[in-house]
Amino acid sequence: MRRLEPEDLLLVLGARPSSDVGAWLRDGLREAVASGRLEAGAALPSSRTAAAGLGVSRGTLSGAVDELVGEGVLESRPRSSVVVADLARHPAGARPRGGAPDAPARPASVGAPDPTLFPRAAWARAVRDAMRELPDAELGYPDPQGLLELRRELAAHLRAARAAPVEAEDVVIVSGVAQGLALLGEVLAGGRGGRRVAVEDPASPGVVAQLRGAGLDVVPVPVDDRGLRTDALPDAAAAVVTPAHQFPLGVVLAPDRRRELVAWARDGDRLLLEDDYDAELRYDRQPVGALRGLDPARVALLGSVSKLLSPALRLGWVVAPPGVREALVDAKRRADLGCSVPEQAAFARLIADGAYARHLRRARLTYRRRRGVLLDALARDAPHVPVEGVAAGLHLVVRLPDGDAEARAVSALRDAGVPAELLSDASAGPGAWGVVVGAARVQGPAVVRVVEILRSAAEGAEARE
Ligand SMILES: Cc1ncc(COP(=O)(O)O)c(C=O)c1O
Repeated sequence: MRRLEPEDLLLVLGARPSSDVGAWLRDGLREAVASGRLEAGAALPSSRTAAAGLGVSRGTLSGAVDELVGEGVLESRPRSSVVVADLARHPAGARPRGGAPDAPARPASVGAPDPTLFPRAAWARAVRDAMRELPDAELGYPDPQGLLELRRELAAHLRAARAAPVEAEDVVIVSGVAQGLALLGEVLAGGRGGRRVAVEDPASPGVVAQLRGAGLDVVPVPVDDRGLRTDALPDAAAAVVTPAHQFPLGVVLAPDRRRELVAWARDGDRLLLEDDYDAELRYDRQPVGALRGLDPARVALLGSVSKLLSPALRLGWVVAPPGVREALVDAKRRADLGCSVPEQAAFARLIADGAYARHLRRARLTYRRRRGVLLDALARDAPHVPVEGVAAGLHLVVRLPDGDAEARAVSALRDAGVPAELLSDASAGPGAWGVVVGAARVQGPAVVRVVEILRSAAEGAEARE
């Protein structure tokens, strides 16, 4: 096995910057492995030798190396040697773990988090502790409202993280925001307020499908750079909104519009369904507080672990106003008798022992850094490609001038392994062209590729004008 010298690393990393040395190490090493400049199987120098040779602290170096091991770019071998992974055999992030066979690849969604960040060890510990401590009585059919222990932990977490009044009795555990919307849709469709529901335009096509599947008539309401156009709200029994980070445009609902929306709900005895899908992933400041804080009797707050841990868990919550809570729990009982108790108990432990908060901090830092690298590269190499929205979440939206450009951009991004959707698919009317890019895993060489695809889609469209 070839052992690399610090000089080999310096050669591929280039000059050491004066700040953010961690990013220099991580991004440079990742790019060198992906491009083959560091050959598969070669061993890194010992951490002491490498840190001294590169002029960095051992802590910074091991932080970068740990992260790249987590991504599958480097591999940790016995006797603490670290080698360059063979990405041709196991592309980073797609390597089999624990000897399990590769699952057939399904395309990731634009809103999916990076699965390599999932805190596997902490989750495994939480499941083990839950199975040791759960009383036998909890291994019968569950409480359809959800495990009390989890509802208590979530209530405390949401009070702090979302500045919303939440008590354990307000919380209903569901299998994700999707089920929460479907069940609330069922409750609304069976109620006296009518079947019309106002939905932001554009919106998540999956959300629209859930509402229609529950028997509701969806009425689109336009969104501008201050969020939902409250002056265009129709007469309807309810509205589904994403006030903290509009999906997909990424804008935040302006304070005066938040008040107008709540007034609209009060005046017409209407319900607001607040889809808080990624609110805890704000990178430049604390997220705006949940709309629920303005009127807990009118707002059902929906959230899930899908963006924060993994959509594979199918675990979410509805903080339900008293007026719909009983009907919602009945709908949950009819749908599936309740969520898995061991999973709920494990999640409760993950929150209680601080591992959830630690994971969120780490995920936010990682996504903030990746987003910054991608936006800097776009600003530098494709300054005419406009990126919308605040510094938050796992996706980006880029407007394109016509349908051809968006189709080409989406297919090229997917070919490059980057999740992408047509903005026109999320829009009710014609004319909204663009691409929704799943940015959670875009890093290293993929940054250059994404910038190139978006640049040429925008330029190609310009050339045809
Ligand atoms: C805006 C929005 N709301 C809701 C969902 C559904 O989330 P869950 O996985 O919690 O059902 C998604 C999923 O991508 C989403 O993008």
